[in-house]
Amino acid sequence: MEQMLNNLKEEALKAIAAASELGELENIRLACLGKKGQLTAVLRQMGSMPPQERPRLGQLANAVRDALEEALASRREELEAREQEARLAAERVDVTLPGRKPGRGAVHPIMRLRRQIEDIFLGMGYTIEEGPEIEADYYNFVALNIPKHHPARDMQDTFYVGADVLLRTHTSPVQVRAMEKARGKVPLKMICPGKVYRKDDDATHSPMFFQVEGLVIDRGISLADLKGTLLHFVREIFGPGQRIRLRPSFFPFTEPSVEVDILCTACAGAGCRVCKASGWLEILGAGMVHPRVLEMSGYDPGQVSGFAFGLGIDRVAMLKYGIHNIRHLYQNDLRVLKQFQGGLE
Ligand code: PHE
Repeated sequence: MEQMLNNLKEEALKAIAAASELGELENIRLACLGKKGQLTAVLRQMGSMPPQERPRLGQLANAVRDALEEALASRREELEAREQEARLAAERVDVTLPGRKPGRGAVHPIMRLRRQIEDIFLGMGYTIEEGPEIEADYYNFVALNIPKHHPARDMQDTFYVGADVLLRTHTSPVQVRAMEKARGKVPLKMICPGKVYRKDDDATHSPMFFQVEGLVIDRGISLADLKGTLLHFVREIFGPGQRIRLRPSFFPFTEPSVEVDILCTACAGAGCRVCKASGWLEILGAGMVHPRVLEMSGYDPGQVSGFAFGLGIDRVAMLKYGIHNIRHLYQNDLRVLKQFQGGLE
């Protein structure tokens, strides 16, 4: 038995020294010291030894176990250190490498233009108002002098959310909301940028697009004020040489009503395909606020007057940036949007 113990010790020590991985070491430990291991098997034979031999053999067995445990522990430490070193070598970070640059976003051309428009009107003392995109029929139509069944509703068909609730077809309802809020006070000078919805979908019309409404109410406001304001505005957007032209038009909520053109941005008025040889391009609708609209929202048309205008931001963006299809503004194609990242104000 003594011989067996010594052999076991010697072979195990050799195996431990030769182990090259932690897993292998664990197998050796189980094979020697585990419940079904060799040492345990040898000790089971202790009962068949003469009693006077047992203490000595017991001591020897303990010594063998201690020696093996010690050898296992120190080999484990070695192997662990070696594995950690290998891991670190594989994961080494080269701090001198150039960093990865995060992709840089940019403001969408419509938002950029919207902010620019806001700045221009803030500079003229206007406030910026907001109104709901889901709007009551009363604000979108009735209070703008477009009663139920009025033919002007045909041009502004939209999505009805409920009986008298709809996606607003223009930002004009915010005129009404602003007048109600001001409770007859003057001057009232506001713009309202926002999304509007219509049943239109072609190269120059999107079912969702952006408008900016403008409204000024005070004593003695005339069409000349409207004209001067719009001229200043288009020169800020398109440059100091820009001009405007007013043509008679019709809106139920303004009287008189006008359609406003600017010099064609492609040919500067010479006449080309973009402006169909006229030299002019339409950019917005406007007019003097209809007396009935003033009255409905708490103003006395005998005391005050006002002008209003509504322009499409998309349309202005297309003209200013030379975009020919409105869908380019909504497809989020980076090849398109990247062209507006720099250089443009
Ligand atoms: N709301 C009109 C439209 O969307 C534009 C407009 C606004 C016309 C204000 C006159 C005055 O067509």
